[in-house]
Amino acid sequence: MTDTTITNPTPDAASQPTPLDLTPQEREANLDLDQLKQLVGLVEYDESKDPFPVTGWDAIVFVVGNATQAAQYYQSTWGMELVGYSGPEHGNRDHKAFVLKSGSIRFVLKGAVSPDSPLIAHHTKHGDGVVDISLEVPDVDKCIAQAKAAGARVVQEPETVSDEFGSVRIAAIATYGETRHTLVQRTVDGQTYSGPYLPGYVARTSGFTKREGAPKRLFQALDHIVGNVELGKMDEWVTFYNRVMGFVNMAEFVGDDIATDYSALMSKVVANGNHRVKFPLNEPAIAKKRSQIDEYLDFYQGPGAQHLAVATNDILGTVDWLRQEGVEFLDTPDAYYDDPEMRARIGVVRVPIEELKSRKILVDRDEDGYLLQIFTKPLGDRPTVFFEIIERHGSLGFGKGNFKALFESIEREQDARGNL
Ligand SMILES: [Fe+2]
Repeated sequence: MTDTTITNPTPDAASQPTPLDLTPQEREANLDLDQLKQLVGLVEYDESKDPFPVTGWDAIVFVVGNATQAAQYYQSTWGMELVGYSGPEHGNRDHKAFVLKSGSIRFVLKGAVSPDSPLIAHHTKHGDGVVDISLEVPDVDKCIAQAKAAGARVVQEPETVSDEFGSVRIAAIATYGETRHTLVQRTVDGQTYSGPYLPGYVARTSGFTKREGAPKRLFQALDHIVGNVELGKMDEWVTFYNRVMGFVNMAEFVGDDIATDYSALMSKVVANGNHRVKFPLNEPAIAKKRSQIDEYLDFYQGPGAQHLAVATNDILGTVDWLRQEGVEFLDTPDAYYDDPEMRARIGVVRVPIEELKSRKILVDRDEDGYLLQIFTKPLGDRPTVFFEIIERHGSLGFGKGNFKALFESIEREQDARGNL
């Protein structure tokens, strides 16, 4: 496998890291910096030299076929908490939107109410999926000026929107497919917005009561979101994130080793300065049979977000709970755990390997530490979006040692669907 960890230009002597600070969402979730360094690999960097500073994730916005029911699913199955809502009752005639939180991450689920809603056409084409990977930035205008100078497509010019909770300044740029990055500046003129999400949303809770014994949260933060793009387009998007958003290259996985006997893909990873936001970008590679990326591109009808990796500090508890709730995970053959070479490579991890084997949790180790991970089957009807659960112990990688086992597992599912 060609795995190159990219060394970015060494900062000059005048470069001073900006002290790390918690985002308001992280503070609200009672996370601390040491936890976040472990959970998502947060690092210090010099924000003053960044042409497009990004603080972290603001929200992941999904368009779904039935937001009312999806909101229930993410509460009951994924342990998220309903915190906000916007709908016809609030002058928003065409759709309903539910805001859910788990730790420092926020999902917004949107579903059409009116048959004229533009969300209908989006959903007909793509099915359930991520429409907006919204990022929190300290200065929207600075980011948009940089985006324009670098040739990005601005889909929403900066504007200030306000309600009784204050003001936010927002704008949006287009990324792969029909996905966008809305940029949200939550402090305007020294005042931080205090509403449940954005102007137009009201606070909302639900009567849902967690079952006895349920963990407080099943995940605390978002680690990365993978984008699937067409054959030959990966480098274009890596360059887009480098040039437009100042993202740095973290790793790349190319060559025939990121492949099974039948299918292949290539992947490169970009991250924002503090590494809160990490985007692996995949493209299919030519092989004997069709890659999982080809299947995604067919069923999503183009490029889009493939998987969301949510971070936890207790993957065993999370997986046990999710299984009990009926979530299905990709299978891993016992041979994976019994392979002496694999055992030697991963060494000692925090639990006996049998505990991982019984749950089909994968392990990978690199020079910085190790990680535990597991992947769900597709969450919706189409073989497109799925989740990864990740528990990092020093490793800043993405589980490259597991790619082959993972891809073989996906391939078995793909074959069963008749799409290999
Ligand atoms: Fe991943």
